[in-house]
Amino acid sequence: MLKISALNQFYGSSHTLRDVSLNVADGACTVVLGRNGVGKTTLLKCLVGLLPVKAGEIVLAGQPLTRTAPHRRVLAGLGYVPQGRDIFPLLSVEENLRIGAYAGERNQTRQGKQFSFDDVFHTFPVLKTMRRRIAGNLSGGQQQQLAIGRALLTNPKLLILDEPTEGIQPSIVMEIEAVIRSLKGSLSILLVEQFFDFAQAVADDYVVLVRGQVVSTGRGDQMEANNVKSLISV
Ligand SMILES: Nc1ncnc2c1ncn2[C@@H]1O[C@H](COP(=O)(O)OP(=O)(O)O)[C@@H](O)[C@H]1O
Ligand SMILES: [Mg+2]
Repeated sequence: MLKISALNQFYGSSHTLRDVSLNVADGACTVVLGRNGVGKTTLLKCLVGLLPVKAGEIVLAGQPLTRTAPHRRVLAGLGYVPQGRDIFPLLSVEENLRIGAYAGERNQTRQGKQFSFDDVFHTFPVLKTMRRRIAGNLSGGQQQQLAIGRALLTNPKLLILDEPTEGIQPSIVMEIEAVIRSLKGSLSILLVEQFFDFAQAVADDYVVLVRGQVVSTGRGDQMEANNVKSLISV
């Protein structure tokens, strides 16, 4: 579904991503692990087009996206849940979701699962209860669910999540884990995560970054044997 090849990125003279390559198989979940500051968010910003790529290629379902504008990448099937969620705090829950649905309705290349408001409310019942509330007043976990719901309504081929468990209460972490498991198959997932147990529970494949470089890859069930924990613990 997704092929990232030899991606390089710089902030000024600092070489932040070095020849990063990774794949996400159809209907599968690839997890990117790494300590703070190794370049995980930078990688996702390059993928969604918020940072121009200096060198390398990004191909989604056979379609080159390396130099495509961010809003066109959404229409091509990239659904992004940014780190820190970035919901619109002054809009209601429903208005936030409508922004995702606006893109979803225009997503001409969509295929596979189509998401409706009812699907999102079924997946995250709390969003239905709180649909008229101002999104900025929700708890961190509820805002994370809102950000995922908003991304699902764009009808993505690939759902991209940047540390969805960060600062969130354990019960909601478990709910998000169950949602990711249930979504696999109907769409593909690229998950950035530092929480080893959560990553292991959902990963079909994994990639570990250290200082902008891929240092370990494998199947999710090899994470323990390949000592991934030692590469990500602080
Ligand atoms: N806008 C920026 N300008 C300059 N340096 C940045 C910027 N954003 C991130 N960095 C630096 O790039 C490195 C990678 O950051 P980031 O991709 O956010 O890491 P991660 O998501 O793995 O914690 C860090 O050293 C960070 O300080
Ligand atoms: Mg980050």
